[in-house]
Amino acid sequence: MQAPLIGRLTVIGLGLIGGSFAKGLRERGLCREVVGFDLDAGSRIKAVELGVVDRCVDNLAEACRGAEVIQLAVPILAMEHLLEQLASLDLGDAVLTDVGSAKGNVVRRARECFGRMPTRFVPGHPIAGSERSGVSAAESSLFSRHKVILTPLDDTDPAALALVDKLWRELGADVEHMDVSHHDEVLAATSHLPHLLAFGLVDSLAKRNENLEIFRYAAGGFRDFTRIAGSDPVMWHDIFLANREAVLHTLDDFRADLEALRTAVDEGDGHTLLGVFTRARAAREHFSKILARRAYVDVMHSKDLIFLANPGGCLSGQLRVPGDKSISHRSIMLGSLAEGVTEVDGFLEGEDALATIQAFRDMGVVIEGPSQGRVTVHGVGLHGLKAAPGPIYLGNSGTSMRLLSGLLAAQSFDSTLTGDASLSKRPMNRVAKPLREMGAVIETGPEGRPPLTIRGGQRLSGMHYDMPMASAQVKSCLLLAGLYAAEKVSVTEPAPTRDHTERMLQGFGYPVQVDGSTVTVESGHTLRSARIEVPADISSAAFFMVAASIAPGSDITLEHVGVNPTRTGVISILKLMGADIELSNPREVGGEPVADIRVRAAQLKGIDIPEDLVPLAIDEFPVLFVAAACAEGRTTLRGAEELRVKESDRIQVMADGLQTLGVNAVPTPDGIIIEGSGTIGGGEVWAHGDHRIAMSFSVASLRASAAIRIHDCANVATSFPNFLALAERAGMRVAVEGNS
Ligand code: S3P
Repeated sequence: MQAPLIGRLTVIGLGLIGGSFAKGLRERGLCREVVGFDLDAGSRIKAVELGVVDRCVDNLAEACRGAEVIQLAVPILAMEHLLEQLASLDLGDAVLTDVGSAKGNVVRRARECFGRMPTRFVPGHPIAGSERSGVSAAESSLFSRHKVILTPLDDTDPAALALVDKLWRELGADVEHMDVSHHDEVLAATSHLPHLLAFGLVDSLAKRNENLEIFRYAAGGFRDFTRIAGSDPVMWHDIFLANREAVLHTLDDFRADLEALRTAVDEGDGHTLLGVFTRARAAREHFSKILARRAYVDVMHSKDLIFLANPGGCLSGQLRVPGDKSISHRSIMLGSLAEGVTEVDGFLEGEDALATIQAFRDMGVVIEGPSQGRVTVHGVGLHGLKAAPGPIYLGNSGTSMRLLSGLLAAQSFDSTLTGDASLSKRPMNRVAKPLREMGAVIETGPEGRPPLTIRGGQRLSGMHYDMPMASAQVKSCLLLAGLYAAEKVSVTEPAPTRDHTERMLQGFGYPVQVDGSTVTVESGHTLRSARIEVPADISSAAFFMVAASIAPGSDITLEHVGVNPTRTGVISILKLMGADIELSNPREVGGEPVADIRVRAAQLKGIDIPEDLVPLAIDEFPVLFVAAACAEGRTTLRGAEELRVKESDRIQVMADGLQTLGVNAVPTPDGIIIEGSGTIGGGEVWAHGDHRIAMSFSVASLRASAAIRIHDCANVATSFPNFLALAERAGMRVAVEGNS
């Protein structure tokens, strides 16, 4: 029990919602007294019997006398009459609040009755319910992990707002504030319209077939779609009358969309139908996987996904890791800009590449899949993208943001690019600056960080850019802008970086000139659709290469791995350290070299990592640091300051974690010095939301003397969604804590 927050709470209307509010606060001891009022005598008696309230009264004036907070929980239309009665009473200093599912009507009516909206009236709406109704269904935990929307007005008393906010939070609710009309529009679209359609469809079918014969043939789809037509008709009748304007607005928009669907069916326009269905399916999946989780679960829990990596184990067997992330991103980007239909196989179904798919869907491209690695992109040509309906959210994906910025700088429309907490900290001036030199108009957040707002309608000029850092993302960004520039665009890199953009542009039939370290493109050509087979990602394979190298007795074959020479730094470095790695069955798939890689355990030794290998192994250093910790002798890395601005500061975060595990790892401004001793302890380490750090410490457990608990691992899903399953299959002992 806590100390009471308020004196007397009065709840008017002891139904499911009012009863649950009263019961929850009473059980938690947050009010000195809870008084109930209801017109129905039976409900009043039950409310006391069930401990929902301390006492009930049958007179409204008496119920309100001396109350500190008055909760109005009557049905939405009854509210109009209730407000009129309340206006004639002396409510003292009481804070008023309500639970109506439309807010505009409540505010309007309050103004009519009180002469103005009382400043201590905080309109509210808990988005919670149950099929059961009445006071006997009241549950003190009904609002736990549910949203409650408060819709204060400009002159609402801040103290009253804070108090109502606090009461709902004490009940476990996730409270948001919104303005009245926004609330009513959102609810009209997401709740009221679907109910109207469900009631309407069932009635329309039933009317046409009075004996309801046709329902004998109705299967799951009908049942799912029309479940909500079983809701309380009186309550819904009230809601539509109360939220009339917002419902009409969303209904009119929907009628226009329905009409467009009708036309598409009438004209046999499969393209439009496929576009609507794929976008809808993607939005639905996004909702159920991400938004619903975020809205109802994660908010109330910390987002900390912990991997528990138990010590020991060795690796064996044949494994195919998921598709290459860089190539997956580019397959969607170039496929969308091509003329014709591009088929992609082996696509990485990780959150980063999915963010790129969603971005292009937002810009009007029809994309089917991914389904078991297969994606079909209906290209719109270089000039066929449309403005996204709102900001494009790119999650954790730096590649999506940097490459897209080049492409969007040349479009006729404005775009805004946003990302998650990690991406929002990453430097974007490296792309914004050269793009501005070409004539692009780009606004960034403070210190050149996201969000980026990119103004359309600019004419980009050509340029030559000497890149100050070795970055494939910057190079690719400028080449994509170059597809639209008035003159040639050429980029010279200080050291070789991954060349997938160049290779894939050529694969799409677009001329690219490569001259030593300089790449040049010119506008005026088109991309033709292609078939793309995405090889397995060497960056994901790297975890198993190190794992098999350090775990005695291991012998593993990684199949169909992309071994583009701009990506194989990890193999070169491991070989220099004495690793036993053999490539076999070399072949070329869609312009990219591919091979099977056999790795057997070996005693590694520490080395000075040659600086020219740094850009060729840029994503693999976290796991290479684990290899260094297991090696004999000192490993030194220099010239890798880039690692400080990846998904996390990978030098600091790895040094911190390795030190926790008893490894002598000293960070330097541009690298790290690791004294390999072969022994690693157990302990708690933090991945800081960085997928590659989480997987690297998982690999470290193979040589650890005790379990390693790795915090903040949810982002493994950005690049390697089935990491845990493959790791277990190969012989590692890592699982989500609580699931093992
Ligand atoms: C990538 C390039 C690299 C890499 C990133 C993917 C790409 O970044 O770290 O994971 O797909 O172009 P930089 O080019 O910034 O080094």
